[in-house]
Amino acid sequence: MARSMMPAPGDWNVANPDRPAWVLIRFDRQTGNGVLLGDAAGAEVMAGTQVCLFGGRSKALLTRRPGQPARMGAMTEPSQSLSLDERRRLAMNGVERHLMGRHPVSPQDELRSIIAELDRSDDPTWDRYGDGGPVAALEGQVAALLGKPAAVMFPSGTMAQQSTLRVWSDRLGSRRIAIPGLSHLLLHEQDGPRLLNGFEWALLTTGVTTGGVVPTVDHLTAIPGELGAVLLEIPLRDGGYLLPAWEELEAFSRACSDRGAPLHLDGARIWESAPYLGHSPAEIAALADTVYVSFYKGLRGLAGAVVAGPEDVIAEVRLWRSRHGGTLWTMLPYAVSALRGLREERPRMAEYYERALEMAELLAAKGIRTFPARPHCNAFRVFVESPGDIVTERVVTVMERERLAVTPRWGDSEDVPGWSWTEFTMGSATMEWSAHEAVDLLARVLLD
Ligand SMILES: Cc1ncc(COP(=O)(O)O)c(C=O)c1O
Repeated sequence: MARSMMPAPGDWNVANPDRPAWVLIRFDRQTGNGVLLGDAAGAEVMAGTQVCLFGGRSKALLTRRPGQPARMGAMTEPSQSLSLDERRRLAMNGVERHLMGRHPVSPQDELRSIIAELDRSDDPTWDRYGDGGPVAALEGQVAALLGKPAAVMFPSGTMAQQSTLRVWSDRLGSRRIAIPGLSHLLLHEQDGPRLLNGFEWALLTTGVTTGGVVPTVDHLTAIPGELGAVLLEIPLRDGGYLLPAWEELEAFSRACSDRGAPLHLDGARIWESAPYLGHSPAEIAALADTVYVSFYKGLRGLAGAVVAGPEDVIAEVRLWRSRHGGTLWTMLPYAVSALRGLREERPRMAEYYERALEMAELLAAKGIRTFPARPHCNAFRVFVESPGDIVTERVVTVMERERLAVTPRWGDSEDVPGWSWTEFTMGSATMEWSAHEAVDLLARVLLD
């Protein structure tokens, strides 16, 4: 059937995942089926697909034919163009390979992998309100890995840390918490810790430059008065994944004890921090009174967190989990995914860290700057001399044409006009490229 290339009502532009060019699709709004126009005229592309409309402006994305892998395309009316963020969001759905972290996985495959992990379990039974089954196994395993007497699982780190700081601050009779200015609690929790638990912040550091980012003993000494607790985030993600040196961490811990202030570690990425610090997670945890760890960063779990510490403290933290609404009827899938991460990903942290060092050096040789120049863990910031939208456009185009995600979105640098930056994280996907291949790919995309 001959078809006109002139857009007609019901025609849509589609970013064809197989080809670098946009193509026109005649799209039936009733059935969701479409027919390619142009050189592949007449080819049925999406018979039986589901079409999701969103955003109120009839932007659409094609999902999949039954029984076939998801194939998505960005669609819009011919006269409209998509914003960069819309293109990125739609292209992300079609991505098959990542240069960072882990390759995309469908919910079905992820859940199948969790079932396979559950099959390995000694106790594949339901926890009930967090008691028993894989939740108990996870708590036991994390307590042992961190060398702490007890541990409690939470659905989120946000709730875990508020509950822990609540227990310490009630015990110490002060809601004043010493904390780095770039802490997750201050930047990413919508002021919840203050509004819900009444914490008052005593900022250890405020800067975004190297010297004033990672708290030291001097920063602690500079804060007078009572403290309910001291919080350290290792690594400090919003400072560029920065860690103190081991000796600095030891000295900081001693200064907290001398002052009688409990030290709580935001160890969301404690596993990732161990290679740089040159000490095991248990040795790191021994410097703190309580430690929170996450399972969905380097460990690639679904979500979830654990706090480890003394028996009596953890028993009280458990009560605060209920009071904050976090004692779920079951957390089994999250716990099983965390156990999988501890088994599969934790042993790879040194490998990821070494790769980060290697890549930072190779990037520098190509004129692409990282911060820190020598990374402290498996992640760092990358800087290039181009505006964020321009670099993001290049990244999105590669996503659309090659189904390959090389970096997250780029943002303009606040400090240096004309420069932009993003974060780059090593994971199992990164290791499928050699460091040279990965850096060549980044240079091709970023410096084009
Ligand atoms: C350093 C740090 N602390 C705490 C959290 C909070 O964890 P959750 O997302 O599980 O609430 C995050 C999450 O990204 C984090 O990066």
